[in-house]
Amino acid sequence: MALHSKDLLGIQELSTDEIQLILDTAANLRNIAERPIKKVPTLRGRTVANLFYEPSTRTRISFELAAKRLSADFINITAATSSAATGETLTDTAKAVQAMQVEFLVVRHSMAGAPHQLAREVEISVVNAGDGPHEHPTQALVDLFTILDVKGYIEGLKVAITGDHITSPAGRSSALALIKMGAEVTLVGPSPLIPPGAESIGVHVEHSMEEGIADADVILLSRVEINPDNELRIPSLREYARFFCLTETRLALAKPDCLVLHWGSMNRGVEIAPDVARVAEDYIAQQITDGIAVRMAVLYLLSGGDRS
Ligand code: CP
Repeated sequence: MALHSKDLLGIQELSTDEIQLILDTAANLRNIAERPIKKVPTLRGRTVANLFYEPSTRTRISFELAAKRLSADFINITAATSSAATGETLTDTAKAVQAMQVEFLVVRHSMAGAPHQLAREVEISVVNAGDGPHEHPTQALVDLFTILDVKGYIEGLKVAITGDHITSPAGRSSALALIKMGAEVTLVGPSPLIPPGAESIGVHVEHSMEEGIADADVILLSRVEINPDNELRIPSLREYARFFCLTETRLALAKPDCLVLHWGSMNRGVEIAPDVARVAEDYIAQQITDGIAVRMAVLYLLSGGDRS
């Protein structure tokens, strides 16, 4: 079985069978990391390019490692060091990369829909590595993978997602993925940090942290900071933390075995208390490690999977 599209643009476009296929494939590829030589020849002779217009640690590095563990050639392109810095359009940069026989273009861009536009303009596979607040499908797949590994199932789990739902690249995709796989998802936060109409994707919305995380099996957190996109939305980080920081006292309201995950660049003392971060750090590290196997699965399946 293979994916229906040449691209991976969002969770919205994936069927539950395709999500399950990616998770199963990632589980099979995961043990490559345990070998003395962490490589298989699956994508030998193919080339993967990262085209990142925004900073990234986890996504950028895990795609690079995923490509290299599948023996693909790999190149990193950033806005600062490419002709994008001189005003070249995203499409022209992508077409130049395509002309050099690159087969996979992994794109991070702040503009919602940028990878979708590129996927229409080029014939090679485009993977969305985060397009602003719209979709970050591989992060959502990583969340599913880690949750499944720790909990053993997803259907019926109560998942609370807290943090900045306006600017977080992963929140919408993770909510969509969890709902597709049968979890019950609640977005928790002050109303200025929750997109209008959020309920339309099937989530509950809760403005009280205590209510939102009560009895949760999993809590997913995103970084909260003051940036140009939200500076008018919240009065201060101190005010946010007072009502929404995941403290030990608040965490005690969730299930005793509640799994706490974070998408990275933690702001300790704002969305997560330092003592909760310390307790959660092993699972958060697993979440980052799992990112490599999930991205290997995505590249492998986009290359044709069993058809190749
Ligand atoms: N989770 C995530 O997207 O992290 P990076 O911004 O470090 O890639």
